[in-house]
Amino acid sequence: MALLTRENGHARLDLPPLEKVPTHVAIIMDGNGRWARQRGLPRSEGHRQGTENLRHIIRAAVEFGVSIMTIYAFSTENWSRPRREVRLLMRILEMMIDRELQELYDEGVQIRHIGELNGIESRLARKVRDACDYTRGNQRLILNVAFNYGGRDEIVHAVQRIVRDGIPAHAITEATISDYVYTSDLPDPDLIIRTSGECRLSNFLIWQGAYSEIYTTETYWPAFDREEFHKALAAYGKRRRRFGRTDEQIDAEYRLPGQA
Ligand code: IPE
Ligand code: IPE
Ligand code: MG
Repeated sequence: MALLTRENGHARLDLPPLEKVPTHVAIIMDGNGRWARQRGLPRSEGHRQGTENLRHIIRAAVEFGVSIMTIYAFSTENWSRPRREVRLLMRILEMMIDRELQELYDEGVQIRHIGELNGIESRLARKVRDACDYTRGNQRLILNVAFNYGGRDEIVHAVQRIVRDGIPAHAITEATISDYVYTSDLPDPDLIIRTSGECRLSNFLIWQGAYSEIYTTETYWPAFDREEFHKALAAYGKRRRRFGRTDEQIDAEYRLPGQA
């Protein structure tokens, strides 16, 4: 049963333990604009609240024992937004690094970037690289920030590098492609969460997400709180991942020795 406790003066719901925690959770943080419009606020306020929310969800990920979290912060398609909004989204990332880096470091978060830094303003690109370098030794949570990221763009870059490395066609396997995408040393996401009711990948982790469980919620990103996150992880715990096999095969695998 969920109980209310107090931490630093804030009411906090004690949530039941999760039966199965996904190792790698990826989140499409969507709905900032609609959250703001619903309240008669400018889109910028939605992005501000969305960023604030991200801080809480990172902490919740650490609390729930998630090891890797990949967040979609800016897609290669988001360049088509009004210039003002693009500039704001860039500034938000910069502010987030300036304000949160030390705290994230102290919490044991390792920041990584996936996507293209080419084409990003040099000062911001440097901050992103520095944040990754600074937190490199941390182990508690790998926070992969997908910024100027597109799944097709990632595959194009992977293929270009495979060709450049002179790997012959007959030697290219699925493992080769996995070795050349940005997440080469990480397991594929177990769970992809998308907020705001949309049911599409929008070019996010299209290679790595081939067998991810997908969870969608109508809740807009700024309102997707710790309890909602817990609900998503609990729903994951009830999923049966078959990877192409039958239920009978999976049952047999889990049957204890001596059981019929
Ligand atoms: C997600 O919220 C943030 C980014 C894509 C950067 P949106 O800005 O897409 O919000 P909606 O979808 O317009 O509500
Ligand atoms: C996906 O959201 C990108 C990010 C969350 C950064 P969008 O709001 O850009 O996706 P579409 O345009 O609705 O597919
Ligand atoms: Mg959107």
